[in-house]
Amino acid sequence: MELSQAALLPEVLDALSDPVILVDGRKVVTFGNAAAMASWPALVKGAPLSFTLRAPDLIDAIDRVLASVAPMIRGTMTERLPVDRLFDFQVVSLSSALSASPRTAPAVVLVFRDLTEAKRLEAMRVDFVANASHELRTPLASLLGFIETLQGPARNDPLAQSRFLGIMREQGRRMARLIDDLLSLSRVEMSEHRRPVDPVDMAVVIRQVADTLRPVAEERQVALEFHLPPEPVLVAGDRDELMRVAENLIENAIKYGHSGGRVELTLTKEALGQGKCGEGHLIVRDFGTGISAEHLPRLTERFYRVDASASRETGGTGLGLAIVKHIVNRHRGRLTIESELGTGSVFHVILPLFLGE
Ligand SMILES: Nc1ncnc2c1ncn2[C@@H]1O[C@H](COP(=O)(O)OP(=O)(O)O)[C@@H](O)[C@H]1O
Ligand SMILES: [Mg+2]
Repeated sequence: MELSQAALLPEVLDALSDPVILVDGRKVVTFGNAAAMASWPALVKGAPLSFTLRAPDLIDAIDRVLASVAPMIRGTMTERLPVDRLFDFQVVSLSSALSASPRTAPAVVLVFRDLTEAKRLEAMRVDFVANASHELRTPLASLLGFIETLQGPARNDPLAQSRFLGIMREQGRRMARLIDDLLSLSRVEMSEHRRPVDPVDMAVVIRQVADTLRPVAEERQVALEFHLPPEPVLVAGDRDELMRVAENLIENAIKYGHSGGRVELTLTKEALGQGKCGEGHLIVRDFGTGISAEHLPRLTERFYRVDASASRETGGTGLGLAIVKHIVNRHRGRLTIESELGTGSVFHVILPLFLGE
């Protein structure tokens, strides 16, 4: 029993998702688990560890553990090449081996934890808070400025007063829109692990959203064209969230693609063969100025806009496509964007069909 457990040890270590490396008293590698080999493909058994891992703090920690200064030392190390990575490491003495065994027996175990992703998420969070504060502070500063003017120089000027109040109302609305969007983004994010399952007819969703946006389209002289199948297209979803998806995409197509004069709304049902769940495809196509390729991958990031002033002029918050992406993810669907400068843009939303009936 004892023996077979010991024999299984390499397999057990391979099953761990964190890199584990054993080195002997000369700092030569005697073992690396699968995660270690994946992280450092150049790691070779029988070669000095420092050939692959040059982090001075790590080497120093191993020296001190080998010299019995401490039984265990923790630290962090960064790597620049081939990509920036950050690791937490723990160097632990295999004490029985240290005293009695030859210098070539495993003497120290190194356990790593890759913190790169956690650090990236943390940086994104900090960025997000900074962006959100900045977006809120701009209209707030303008509101405070106008209040001071109303209390001071414009105290007895009714004409200026009514003009300033109009601007103030617009700034207040902008703040309210921003807060609404921030709240819906966090709501969707919090429920993203729970997939919505109610039957929702996408054809109805599109018609309803298009009805509410008709005045916006008319104002910009954009014709909405429908290509909807006669039968319902039931997807498994959350009706309100799917309305927001359609609303954001159609509104963007009208606002940013108005020079094309028309927006096409297409809905299709795709069967995917036996045993597979079919898909509903919503396609929103405009014939406006389009988006150049370098912007496409970043379009769904929070607050990312191709033209910030054009977005603000039309009441945009820069959060619409981020909300769309999270809702589509929650529905286990896909969002793809194709665009060409001067030709227009196509937004595809692909959602699994409802199977409950
Ligand atoms: N159909 C489109 N045509 C051209 N640009 C678009 C289109 N849809 C979105 N964009 C660009 O993507 C940016 C982000 O869109 P979105 O997240 O909805 O934010 P917002 O509309 O509030 O600015 C917009 O500011 C705009 O620059
Ligand atoms: Mg938008």
